[in-house]
Amino acid sequence: MAIYNLGSINADNVYRVPHLVGPGETLAATGFSQGLGGKGANMSVAAARAAARVFHIGAVGPDGAWASERLLEYGVDTRHIARVDEPTGHANICVDEAGENDIVVFAGANRAITDAMIGAALAEASPGDSFVTQNETSGQAYGAETARKLGVRVIYAAAPFDAAAVNTVMEHLDLLVLNAVEAAQLSAQTGSDIGDLPVSDVIVTMGSRGCKWLSRGAEPCLFPALDVTAVDTTGAGDTFTGYLIAGLDRGMPMAQAIDLATRAAALMVTRVGTADVIPDLKEIQDMRLG
Ligand code: RIB
Ligand code: NA
Repeated sequence: MAIYNLGSINADNVYRVPHLVGPGETLAATGFSQGLGGKGANMSVAAARAAARVFHIGAVGPDGAWASERLLEYGVDTRHIARVDEPTGHANICVDEAGENDIVVFAGANRAITDAMIGAALAEASPGDSFVTQNETSGQAYGAETARKLGVRVIYAAAPFDAAAVNTVMEHLDLLVLNAVEAAQLSAQTGSDIGDLPVSDVIVTMGSRGCKWLSRGAEPCLFPALDVTAVDTTGAGDTFTGYLIAGLDRGMPMAQAIDLATRAAALMVTRVGTADVIPDLKEIQDMRLG
């Protein structure tokens, strides 16, 4: 099977800082690195690292050839990444000493993805393939609806949270993945419990508290996190989702895919950076649990 990922591609500028910047404050960074990121690119790399066949649907600007080349190098099929006349997306990420972060994202080319580009990519998908998307590009609703009609499994990560976007995709989803903050925002918006959403499977990630799987008609199932020391949580959620969908794509039952995703995310928080440092299957197997 294959995964079609409609997702953002960013250049990540990562600053190590003593603490997160406050209003009006100027702060000296203690370290700096640049790399490939974007929630979408991170998910594609994670799924490819998990040995899935991944087609990334996205866009970069005239300055973005390096990003598609890097995705290709990481095993992602890049034929559906368009070159558009907008600057490549980028993110400025501050990571403090406790591994907490804040992120400013400029979407750029990611918002220039058209329904026609998405349609052309999905025309190659087969029933049983997966379509995944999040909120850093244009076209989520069109993509989700088109994929659903084709019998493709639709997975949506509600990140970063966008109330309007969630509403447009909800009816087409097979699986919704969101973190605890996004879950609270969605509950507040819909005025109902996450477990009562019209989606058959929902996974709520809760950082060091693990994650919760809510499957319609079943008791919620809690999965503990692994005990690791977090250095940088950036990209851990994307790594979780990428591994999860790769596991499902490869035919794993949900609990087993969650277990694999939990391990991948645990290893990811011990590393500084995003797409460039996502672990592969071998590294996860060799992982020593603290
Ligand atoms: O989730 C982490 C990602 O969010 C970063 O790679 C950054 O590009 C932003 O999209
Ligand atoms: Na990280």
